Amino acid sequence: MNRRPWIAGLLLSAGFLLGLAGCSGKTKTEGGSSVKNGEAGPVELKIGANLELSGKVAGWGEDSKKGMQLAVDELNADPKSGVKLSILFEDNASDAAKSKDAVKKLILQDNVNVVVGAVASNDTMAAMEVARDEHIPMVTHASTNVTITQKGGKCIFRICFHDDFQGQVMAKFAKDELKAQSAVLVVAKGNAYSEGLVKSFKEAFTAGGGKVLSEEAYQEGDTDFQTLVTKIKSADPDVVWVPGYYNEVPLIIKQARAIGFQKPFLGGDGWDDPKLYDLGGADIKDNYFCNHFSPSSTNPMVQTFVKNYGAKYNAKPGAMAALGYDAIYCIADAARRAGSSDPEKLRDAIQTLKDVKTLCGDVTMGEDREVIKPAMILKTGEKEHVFHMNFK
Ligand code: PHE
Repeated sequence: MNRRPWIAGLLLSAGFLLGLAGCSGKTKTEGGSSVKNGEAGPVELKIGANLELSGKVAGWGEDSKKGMQLAVDELNADPKSGVKLSILFEDNASDAAKSKDAVKKLILQDNVNVVVGAVASNDTMAAMEVARDEHIPMVTHASTNVTITQKGGKCIFRICFHDDFQGQVMAKFAKDELKAQSAVLVVAKGNAYSEGLVKSFKEAFTAGGGKVLSEEAYQEGDTDFQTLVTKIKSADPDVVWVPGYYNEVPLIIKQARAIGFQKPFLGGDGWDDPKLYDLGGADIKDNYFCNHFSPSSTNPMVQTFVKNYGAKYNAKPGAMAALGYDAIYCIADAARRAGSSDPEKLRDAIQTLKDVKTLCGDVTMGEDREVIKPAMILKTGEKEHVFHMNFK
């Protein structure tokens, strides 16, 4: 009897099972070879940050970097932290293809133990296959597109809420708080974040009895929105859902106000940047968006962070800085429990993050590599946004 097919089958299924175990399978322990493991002292860890440090959303990359660096400095200065971190920042230029190259460099050349980032969903989605194939855990602090954790595999984690939740929160807010019965939806074409949010808001808003009057689109980089705002004005909805990024959203609002459309615009976390006001001026006032963080929270941990961040950077932190800071604390918690910088052990420890206190809510990692976190709604003012209400 020829037993080979049976043995091959057994080997194949063993390989399959190992593959299912995620960052295991092929061992990429070389990533941890230059660092000592934790028994004798702190766990030494090399973190690779893939961020938008230039290009269209450079503001977010810079803020993430500041939050991450502050966390690294604090943890390294604390003799009880149990970790000694080094962090390498790689600029993805707010470009999906470059984001993939950035993660390749961090993993293959710099031998990082873990990757953090990116900000924009498109950039995370392009890069995550590299982490998956190289079996290096990757934690996105800010990308909210739902499919990321589904498609990314066992190495890809997220520590913020995702767009199904965010879309539901804003649809519920529109219906219950603003008493909106109709909406116009506006998508940034080709942006996975914006497309996901239009879908989730639409589902929740119509399920709650709301009516979608029309669905419109624009291209990122556009500056003239006359046709779009004219359509919005003639549809005359109770609210406009425009979950885009901060470059185009303020121009859309400003141009709509200029032709006399006064109803509220609603958005997602992509509105959170001071550029909203730089580009839109006082017209930005009295609109609402969903966010992860507000510096005006009375939580003492948030207030300490705001103080330390202000002292170091002379600025007020937004969600991006807070999420970047949180991601480093989560990675440090995992490294301490793993007692090792080995990527596979780290992956398992990230998978079991439990009740980690962070600025944007406690982090407990789910089986699906998602965390359940509260959201808050912020209201835009004349120069900055203010906390409006919490949502769970
Ligand atoms: N959630 C956005 C995305 O996935 C990025 C973002 C996060 C923007 C947090 C602002 C604040 O593309």
